[in-house]
Amino acid sequence: MKSFEDKVAVITGAGSGIGQSLAVQLDQDGSHLALGDINTDHLEETRQLLTLGTKVSCHNVDVSNPSRMSQFASDVIAAHGHVDILINNAGITLTPTLFEDIPAQQFKKVIDVNMWGVYYGTREFLPYLRRRPEAVIINISSLAGLVGLFGYSPYAMSKFAVRGLTESLQSELVGTNVSILIVQPGGVKTNLIKNAPDLTDAQAREDSHQEFTRAAGITPEKAAEKILKAVKKNRRSLIIGTDAKVVNAIRDLFPNSFPRILHSAFSRMTFK
Ligand SMILES: NC(=O)c1ccc[n+]([C@@H]2O[C@H](COP(=O)([O-])OP(=O)(O)OC[C@H]3O[C@@H](n4cnc5c(N)ncnc54)[C@H](O)[C@@H]3O)[C@@H](O)[C@H]2O)c1
Repeated sequence: MKSFEDKVAVITGAGSGIGQSLAVQLDQDGSHLALGDINTDHLEETRQLLTLGTKVSCHNVDVSNPSRMSQFASDVIAAHGHVDILINNAGITLTPTLFEDIPAQQFKKVIDVNMWGVYYGTREFLPYLRRRPEAVIINISSLAGLVGLFGYSPYAMSKFAVRGLTESLQSELVGTNVSILIVQPGGVKTNLIKNAPDLTDAQAREDSHQEFTRAAGITPEKAAEKILKAVKKNRRSLIIGTDAKVVNAIRDLFPNSFPRILHSAFSRMTFK
Protein backbone atom coordinates (compact mmCIF):
# COMPACT_ATOMS: atom_id res chain seq x y z
CA MET A 1 0.00 0.00 0.00
CA LYS A 2 1.76 3.12 -1.19
CA SER A 3 -0.43 5.75 0.47
CA PHE A 4 -2.67 5.91 3.54
CA GLU A 5 -4.63 8.91 2.35
CA ASP A 6 -8.41 8.40 2.47
CA LYS A 7 -7.96 4.81 3.68
CA VAL A 8 -10.09 3.57 6.60
CA ALA A 9 -7.86 2.08 9.33
CA VAL A 10 -9.11 0.03 12.30
CA ILE A 11 -6.71 0.00 15.27
CA THR A 12 -7.28 -2.09 18.40
CA GLY A 13 -5.59 -0.95 21.60
CA ALA A 14 -5.49 2.55 20.11
CA GLY A 15 -5.63 4.30 23.49
CA SER A 16 -1.96 3.98 24.41
CA GLY A 17 1.57 3.21 23.27
CA ILE A 18 2.14 1.80 19.79
CA GLY A 19 -1.59 1.88 18.88
CA GLN A 20 -1.86 5.53 19.86
CA SER A 21 1.24 6.45 17.84
CA LEU A 22 -0.09 4.56 14.82
CA ALA A 23 -3.36 6.50 15.12
CA VAL A 24 -1.54 9.84 15.27
CA GLN A 25 0.68 9.05 12.27
CA LEU A 26 -2.13 7.63 10.14
CA ASP A 27 -4.21 10.71 10.98
CA GLN A 28 -1.35 12.89 9.75
CA ASP A 29 -1.20 10.78 6.59
CA GLY A 30 -4.91 11.44 5.90
CA SER A 31 -6.45 8.11 7.00
CA HIS A 32 -9.92 7.82 8.49
CA LEU A 33 -9.74 6.04 11.82
CA ALA A 34 -11.84 3.53 13.75
CA LEU A 35 -10.18 3.32 17.16
CA GLY A 36 -10.93 0.48 19.56
CA ASP A 37 -9.83 0.09 23.17
CA ILE A 38 -11.15 -1.44 26.38
CA ASN A 39 -10.30 1.80 28.20
CA THR A 40 -12.42 4.78 27.15
CA ASP A 41 -10.20 7.32 28.99
CA HIS A 42 -7.24 6.10 26.93
CA LEU A 43 -9.29 6.41 23.75
CA GLU A 44 -10.24 9.97 24.61
CA GLU A 45 -6.53 10.80 25.13
CA THR A 46 -5.80 9.53 21.63
CA ARG A 47 -8.71 11.46 20.14
CA GLN A 48 -7.31 14.67 21.70
CA LEU A 49 -4.03 14.12 19.83
CA LEU A 50 -5.66 13.94 16.41
CA THR A 51 -6.11 16.80 14.01
CA LEU A 52 -9.61 15.48 13.24
CA GLY A 53 -9.22 16.60 9.65
CA THR A 54 -10.52 13.15 8.72
CA LYS A 55 -13.33 10.96 10.01
CA VAL A 56 -12.66 9.34 13.42
CA SER A 57 -14.85 6.94 15.38
CA CYS A 58 -14.05 5.61 18.86
CA HIS A 59 -15.28 2.22 20.07
CA ASN A 60 -15.19 0.81 23.57
CA VAL A 61 -14.33 -2.81 22.85
CA ASP A 62 -12.75 -5.79 24.58
CA VAL A 63 -10.92 -7.72 21.84
CA SER A 64 -11.26 -10.97 23.80
CA ASN A 65 -15.07 -10.79 23.67
CA PRO A 66 -16.38 -12.38 20.42
CA SER A 67 -19.81 -10.73 20.46
CA ARG A 68 -18.31 -7.29 21.17
CA MET A 69 -15.85 -7.79 18.30
CA SER A 70 -18.69 -8.72 15.98
CA GLN A 71 -20.56 -5.56 17.05
CA PHE A 72 -17.34 -3.55 16.62
CA ALA A 73 -17.08 -4.61 12.98
CA SER A 74 -20.74 -3.73 12.34
CA ASP A 75 -20.30 -0.35 14.05
CA VAL A 76 -17.17 0.43 12.01
CA ILE A 77 -18.92 -0.40 8.74
CA ALA A 78 -21.94 1.70 9.80
CA ALA A 79 -19.63 4.64 10.56
CA HIS A 80 -17.15 4.38 7.66
CA GLY A 81 -18.73 2.15 5.00
CA HIS A 82 -15.63 0.01 4.46
CA VAL A 83 -12.21 -0.92 5.91
CA ASP A 84 -8.80 -0.90 4.16
CA ILE A 85 -6.38 -1.44 7.06
CA LEU A 86 -6.74 -3.61 10.17
CA ILE A 87 -4.17 -3.29 12.94
CA ASN A 88 -4.52 -6.05 15.55
CA ASN A 89 -2.48 -4.25 18.17
CA ALA A 90 -4.26 -4.59 21.56
CA GLY A 91 -2.20 -6.70 23.92
CA ILE A 92 -1.32 -7.28 27.57
CA THR A 93 1.40 -8.99 29.56
CA LEU A 94 1.86 -10.07 33.14
CA THR A 95 4.94 -8.81 34.94
CA PRO A 96 7.80 -11.34 34.68
CA THR A 97 6.68 -14.41 36.64
CA LEU A 98 7.84 -18.02 36.55
CA PHE A 99 5.40 -20.39 34.80
CA GLU A 100 4.81 -22.42 37.97
CA ASP A 101 3.77 -19.32 39.89
CA ILE A 102 1.17 -18.05 37.40
CA PRO A 103 -2.45 -18.81 38.34
CA ALA A 104 -4.27 -20.48 35.43
CA GLN A 105 -6.81 -17.65 35.21
CA GLN A 106 -4.10 -15.01 34.72
CA PHE A 107 -2.35 -17.18 32.13
CA LYS A 108 -5.64 -17.59 30.26
CA LYS A 109 -6.35 -13.84 30.36
CA VAL A 110 -3.16 -13.13 28.41
CA ILE A 111 -4.05 -15.78 25.82
CA ASP A 112 -7.63 -14.49 25.58
CA VAL A 113 -6.55 -10.94 24.77
CA ASN A 114 -3.38 -11.50 22.74
CA MET A 115 -4.32 -14.62 20.79
CA TRP A 116 -8.12 -14.72 20.62
CA GLY A 117 -8.24 -10.94 20.21
CA VAL A 118 -6.20 -11.22 17.01
CA TYR A 119 -8.35 -14.13 15.85
CA TYR A 120 -11.64 -12.25 16.43
CA GLY A 121 -10.28 -9.09 14.79
CA THR A 122 -9.14 -11.03 11.74
CA ARG A 123 -12.31 -13.13 11.51
CA GLU A 124 -14.65 -10.12 11.77
CA PHE A 125 -12.83 -7.70 9.45
CA LEU A 126 -11.32 -9.98 6.80
CA PRO A 127 -14.61 -10.30 4.83
CA TYR A 128 -14.74 -6.49 4.56
CA LEU A 129 -11.05 -6.20 3.68
CA ARG A 130 -11.54 -8.76 0.89
CA ARG A 131 -13.98 -6.37 -0.84
CA ARG A 132 -11.44 -3.56 -1.22
CA PRO A 133 -9.08 -3.06 -4.20
CA GLU A 134 -6.11 -3.26 -1.81
CA ALA A 135 -6.05 -4.05 1.91
CA VAL A 136 -3.55 -4.72 4.71
CA ILE A 137 -3.62 -6.52 8.05
CA ILE A 138 -0.90 -5.65 10.55
CA ASN A 139 -0.53 -8.11 13.42
CA ILE A 140 1.57 -6.96 16.36
CA SER A 141 3.41 -9.94 17.78
CA SER A 142 6.68 -9.48 19.70
CA LEU A 143 10.27 -10.59 20.14
CA ALA A 144 8.47 -13.05 22.44
CA GLY A 145 6.82 -14.45 19.29
CA LEU A 146 10.27 -15.39 17.97
CA VAL A 147 11.93 -16.48 21.21
CA GLY A 148 10.27 -17.92 24.33
CA LEU A 149 11.45 -15.31 26.82
CA PHE A 150 12.25 -16.29 30.42
CA GLY A 151 9.47 -15.14 32.78
CA TYR A 152 7.00 -14.41 29.99
CA SER A 153 5.50 -17.83 29.22
CA PRO A 154 1.84 -16.79 28.63
CA TYR A 155 2.93 -13.78 26.62
CA ALA A 156 5.32 -15.90 24.51
CA MET A 157 2.66 -18.56 23.96
CA SER A 158 0.18 -15.93 22.76
CA LYS A 159 2.66 -14.11 20.53
CA PHE A 160 3.92 -17.33 18.90
CA ALA A 161 0.26 -18.06 18.14
CA VAL A 162 -0.12 -14.65 16.47
CA ARG A 163 2.89 -15.41 14.29
CA GLY A 164 1.51 -18.84 13.41
CA LEU A 165 -1.87 -17.49 12.36
CA THR A 166 -0.25 -14.67 10.39
CA GLU A 167 2.13 -16.93 8.48
CA SER A 168 -0.70 -19.35 7.58
CA LEU A 169 -2.83 -16.48 6.32
CA GLN A 170 0.07 -14.94 4.42
CA SER A 171 0.32 -18.06 2.29
CA GLU A 172 -3.45 -18.54 2.00
CA LEU A 173 -3.92 -14.96 0.79
CA VAL A 174 -1.17 -14.98 -1.86
CA GLY A 175 -2.61 -13.55 -5.08
CA THR A 176 -5.51 -11.80 -3.31
CA ASN A 177 -6.03 -8.12 -2.53
CA VAL A 178 -5.02 -8.59 1.15
CA SER A 179 -1.45 -8.59 2.40
CA ILE A 180 -0.38 -9.19 5.99
CA LEU A 181 2.55 -7.81 7.96
CA ILE A 182 3.78 -9.49 11.14
CA VAL A 183 5.60 -7.13 13.53
CA GLN A 184 7.99 -8.38 16.22
CA PRO A 185 9.14 -5.48 18.42
CA GLY A 186 11.70 -5.75 21.20
CA GLY A 187 11.30 -3.34 24.14
CA VAL A 188 9.21 -0.24 23.37
CA LYS A 189 8.70 2.55 25.93
CA THR A 190 4.94 2.18 26.48
CA ASN A 191 2.51 1.51 29.32
CA LEU A 192 2.52 -2.25 28.65
CA ILE A 193 3.84 -3.15 32.13
CA LYS A 194 1.89 -0.35 33.84
CA ASN A 195 -1.27 -1.93 32.40
CA ALA A 196 -0.31 -5.48 33.51
CA PRO A 197 -3.42 -7.12 35.02
CA ASP A 198 -1.45 -8.89 37.79
CA LEU A 199 -0.16 -5.64 39.32
CA THR A 200 -2.43 -4.53 42.12
CA ASP A 201 -0.17 -2.28 44.20
CA ALA A 202 0.24 1.28 42.80
CA GLN A 203 3.88 1.63 43.88
CA ALA A 204 4.82 -1.77 42.40
CA ARG A 205 3.07 -0.71 39.20
CA GLU A 206 5.10 2.50 38.98
CA ASP A 207 8.41 0.78 39.88
CA SER A 208 7.92 -1.97 37.29
CA HIS A 209 6.89 0.60 34.69
CA GLN A 210 10.04 2.68 35.32
CA GLU A 211 12.28 -0.41 35.13
CA PHE A 212 10.64 -1.53 31.89
CA THR A 213 10.83 1.84 30.14
CA ARG A 214 14.48 2.30 31.18
CA ALA A 215 15.37 -1.01 29.52
CA ALA A 216 13.20 -0.56 26.41
CA GLY A 217 15.14 0.58 23.38
CA ILE A 218 12.76 2.72 21.36
CA THR A 219 9.76 5.01 21.57
CA PRO A 220 6.27 4.06 20.36
CA GLU A 221 6.48 6.90 17.81
CA LYS A 222 9.58 5.34 16.25
CA ALA A 223 7.97 1.88 16.29
CA ALA A 224 4.86 3.23 14.53
CA GLU A 225 7.01 5.02 11.96
CA LYS A 226 8.85 1.77 11.14
CA ILE A 227 5.61 -0.21 10.92
CA LEU A 228 4.00 2.22 8.46
CA LYS A 229 7.19 2.38 6.40
CA ALA A 230 7.20 -1.44 6.20
CA VAL A 231 3.60 -1.39 4.93
CA LYS A 232 4.53 1.13 2.24
CA LYS A 233 7.42 -1.16 1.19
CA ASN A 234 4.99 -4.11 1.06
CA ARG A 235 7.04 -6.07 3.58
CA ARG A 236 5.70 -9.27 5.19
CA SER A 237 7.78 -9.29 8.37
CA LEU A 238 9.38 -6.63 10.55
CA ILE A 239 11.61 -7.02 13.60
CA ILE A 240 11.94 -3.74 15.51
CA GLY A 241 14.85 -2.88 17.83
CA THR A 242 18.45 -3.96 18.25
CA ASP A 243 17.49 -6.01 21.31
CA ALA A 244 15.04 -8.10 19.27
CA LYS A 245 17.48 -8.58 16.40
CA VAL A 246 20.39 -9.56 18.70
CA VAL A 247 18.39 -11.98 20.88
CA ASN A 248 16.86 -13.62 17.82
CA ALA A 249 20.31 -13.99 16.20
CA ILE A 250 21.82 -15.48 19.39
CA ARG A 251 19.04 -18.10 19.46
CA ASP A 252 19.82 -19.06 15.86
CA LEU A 253 23.59 -19.17 16.46
CA PHE A 254 23.48 -21.11 19.76
CA PRO A 255 20.26 -23.16 19.76
CA ASN A 256 21.47 -25.62 22.39
CA SER A 257 22.96 -23.24 24.91
CA PHE A 258 20.30 -20.56 24.35
CA PRO A 259 18.06 -21.57 27.32
CA ARG A 260 21.07 -21.34 29.65
CA ILE A 261 22.04 -17.93 28.19
CA LEU A 262 18.51 -16.62 28.78
CA HIS A 263 18.45 -18.13 32.26
CA SER A 264 21.64 -16.40 33.35
CA ALA A 265 20.56 -13.10 31.76
CA PHE A 266 17.06 -12.99 33.25
CA SER A 267 16.97 -15.08 36.42
CA ARG A 268 18.55 -12.26 38.46
CA MET A 269 15.56 -10.04 37.68
CA THR A 270 13.03 -9.40 40.44
CA PHE A 271 10.31 -12.01 40.40
CA LYS A 272 7.15 -11.86 42.45
N1 LIG B 1 5.95 -2.29 24.64
C1 LIG B 1 6.69 -3.28 24.24
O1 LIG B 1 7.86 -3.41 24.64
C2 LIG B 1 6.15 -4.28 23.24
C3 LIG B 1 7.05 -5.18 22.67
C4 LIG B 1 6.58 -6.13 21.77
C5 LIG B 1 5.23 -6.15 21.45
N2 LIG B 1 4.37 -5.26 22.03
C6 LIG B 1 2.96 -5.36 21.66
O2 LIG B 1 2.52 -4.11 21.16
C7 LIG B 1 1.10 -4.04 21.32
C8 LIG B 1 0.75 -2.69 21.92
O3 LIG B 1 1.25 -2.65 23.27
P1 LIG B 1 1.88 -1.34 23.92
O4 LIG B 1 3.27 -1.67 24.25
O5 LIG B 1 1.58 -0.15 23.10
O6 LIG B 1 1.07 -1.34 25.32
P2 LIG B 1 0.07 -0.30 26.00
O7 LIG B 1 -0.32 -0.96 27.28
O8 LIG B 1 0.70 1.05 26.07
O9 LIG B 1 -1.17 -0.24 25.00
C9 LIG B 1 -2.04 -1.34 24.86
C10 LIG B 1 -3.47 -0.82 24.69
O10 LIG B 1 -4.32 -1.98 24.54
C11 LIG B 1 -5.49 -1.79 25.32
N3 LIG B 1 -6.07 -3.08 25.68
C12 LIG B 1 -5.63 -3.97 26.60
N4 LIG B 1 -6.46 -5.01 26.67
C13 LIG B 1 -7.44 -4.80 25.76
C14 LIG B 1 -8.58 -5.53 25.37
N5 LIG B 1 -8.90 -6.70 25.95
N6 LIG B 1 -9.37 -5.02 24.39
C15 LIG B 1 -9.06 -3.82 23.81
N7 LIG B 1 -8.00 -3.07 24.16
C16 LIG B 1 -7.19 -3.57 25.13
C17 LIG B 1 -5.02 -1.01 26.55
O11 LIG B 1 -6.10 -0.34 27.20
C18 LIG B 1 -3.99 -0.06 25.93
O12 LIG B 1 -4.61 1.16 25.56
C19 LIG B 1 0.70 -5.23 22.21
O13 LIG B 1 0.18 -6.27 21.40
C20 LIG B 1 2.03 -5.65 22.82
O14 LIG B 1 2.03 -7.01 23.18
C21 LIG B 1 4.81 -4.33 22.91
